[in-house]
Amino acid sequence: MNRIEGRVKVTGLATYAAEYPAEGVAYACAVQSRIAKGRIKRVDGGPALESPGVLAVLSCEDPPRMSEDADPELALFQHREVAYRGQIVAAVVADTYENARAAAAAVRVDYDPDDHDVTLSADHPGLYKPDVVNPGFPTDTGKGDVEAGLAAAATTVEVTYETPVLHNNPMEPHAALAYWDAEGRLLVYDTAQGTSTSRDMIATALGLPPERVRVVSRHVGGGFGSKGSTRPQAVLAALAARAVGRPVKIALTRQQMFDVTGYRTPTIQRLRLGADAQGRLTALEHVAYEQSSTLVEFAEQTTVPGRVMYATPALRTAHRLVRLDVATPSWMRAPGECPGMYALESAMDELAYAAGLDPVELRIVNDAETEPGTGLPFSSRDLVGCLREGARRFGWERRDPAPGIRREGEWLVGTGVAASTYPARRSPCQAVATVWDGDFLVQVAAADIGTGARTALTRIAADTLEVSPERVHVELGDSDLPRAPVAGGSMGTASWGSAVVRACEELKRDGKKGRADTTEEIKGDAELARHAFGAQFAEVRVSSVTGEIRVARLLGVFAAGRIVDPTLARSQFIGGMTMGLGMALMEETLTDAEFGGFLHRDLAQYHVPVCADVRDVEAVWLDERDGELNPMGSKGIGEIGIVGTAAAIGNAVFHATGHRVRELPITPAKVLMPRF
Ligand code: MOS
Repeated sequence: MNRIEGRVKVTGLATYAAEYPAEGVAYACAVQSRIAKGRIKRVDGGPALESPGVLAVLSCEDPPRMSEDADPELALFQHREVAYRGQIVAAVVADTYENARAAAAAVRVDYDPDDHDVTLSADHPGLYKPDVVNPGFPTDTGKGDVEAGLAAAATTVEVTYETPVLHNNPMEPHAALAYWDAEGRLLVYDTAQGTSTSRDMIATALGLPPERVRVVSRHVGGGFGSKGSTRPQAVLAALAARAVGRPVKIALTRQQMFDVTGYRTPTIQRLRLGADAQGRLTALEHVAYEQSSTLVEFAEQTTVPGRVMYATPALRTAHRLVRLDVATPSWMRAPGECPGMYALESAMDELAYAAGLDPVELRIVNDAETEPGTGLPFSSRDLVGCLREGARRFGWERRDPAPGIRREGEWLVGTGVAASTYPARRSPCQAVATVWDGDFLVQVAAADIGTGARTALTRIAADTLEVSPERVHVELGDSDLPRAPVAGGSMGTASWGSAVVRACEELKRDGKKGRADTTEEIKGDAELARHAFGAQFAEVRVSSVTGEIRVARLLGVFAAGRIVDPTLARSQFIGGMTMGLGMALMEETLTDAEFGGFLHRDLAQYHVPVCADVRDVEAVWLDERDGELNPMGSKGIGEIGIVGTAAAIGNAVFHATGHRVRELPITPAKVLMPRF
């Protein structure tokens, strides 16, 4: 299907959070900390209050009333302590955006600074073992004897890979418009990956019962995880609106987004792999070192792919975390799996070279019958099918494995492969379907963050009702609709779709209305390992003169259950792969060790791929039938596309140049380095 909202989007009629008209609206602008750690001595809002159009200055000098249960990243102006550079320490509300912004610059904040520490290292004395890693996995796992496996191996690889801080950069900045009505009910037009959860987080922060808050996000211009939990703009708009008795709008600047909307934790990952003469793993150990803030423990699940991917008699995975004077890391597309698979799949490539085996074959001989970490059967697993189909389409059999020998003028040419995996989950969801003017209305508080969720759900409902999609109208993006989980973890369609199918089935029986809640149904799901798999192939050209790296071809082959809509799915896959290309070659946020905070704070410095960087990207999928997932038989596809891409490109760069770069991004300087 074509996207239902395609026309309103391309004609500019789709309304995003900051665009709703509001009578008497005022504007808020945040003031951010200039120190990384310490205490606010005094906030002087005097000069700002005298600026034109200023209505209020909010700060810890007169803390707005909030709940003690507020998420610490949302507890604005409640404390004098500063946890990181860039943290919101005050805000100005004025009649225009320009006046608010000018006055924000006039707010004086005096600090009592302390020494800060913003640098992750694998021997940091503050490293500890968190109780669990996101979203509830065991921190460490082990089976068999890793040391014995390594000792008995014919080939071993011991390597350290590093990934930098990465930032989501959705086109739509984080923005909100908040109103309090006469009865004290709060309405927030927010940019959220889930209005039900955003409503709950805002209500908790403000100490309100959830029914006193409504969150509306009808269109969201990308999120990738950065809008998966409520960010400060929503709470700031609500506090500011309460303070001035008018609706208040706030749109973060791109620079502010880098500071307060979360980021992917940097990682240091140590891997030890051993294989016998046939390439079969004898041991796999994967340990990740990551950071969180002093405010909140966010422990990313970096080494979980090792628990899913390959058969091995000895397996150890572990995570260590250190709390630094930094902002809290947050969700970024395939959090955990993406950086973890970058390191694992790069190390597997190193193992293939060390053992003299083809990297596709190495993965095939190590395919797992049951999930290595748990012993559970897979609901379905077709990694081997993806590798074989990818190799066939890509022309892999013509590949000369020797690195650094193919040259076309100044260009060194190479190819690489990596595997992908991502969990296929679903969460409880509610939905209502009703006969509506001869057509059908389906209501669910799902979120369309640019993925085409409206369209996918329309199709799912039409299939169930056995009517044409034109007769189905899906209403989403509003917390007053039946409760739904976020568009995240690649489980939006699986979760919402399950509820939509059940509601539509009941409507068919009842003739008028169907209402569903999948909580009980999901409790009855069999205990199985459910994951999507994929294989990614890359061809790169590396200039031997400048070190410039061009990705000439990218191919992804995925086994992700039944594909609900091919057009939407292709966009998701190639979008994920493009984001993975950015991760491989461009994206990096440097932390400022001296002053704290981030050095990259806009799209001039933080490079993301543009069309010219993305040449031949192709995504295809295998026809996979899996009856153990949900009524659609679908696995999520939002994140599998990014997992593995960076490793495939890095492996291709090695094949092209003979030089292994183990720190992302793979920049020209790092590629040229061995020459000097
Ligand atoms: Mo995605 S990081 O699960 O929103």
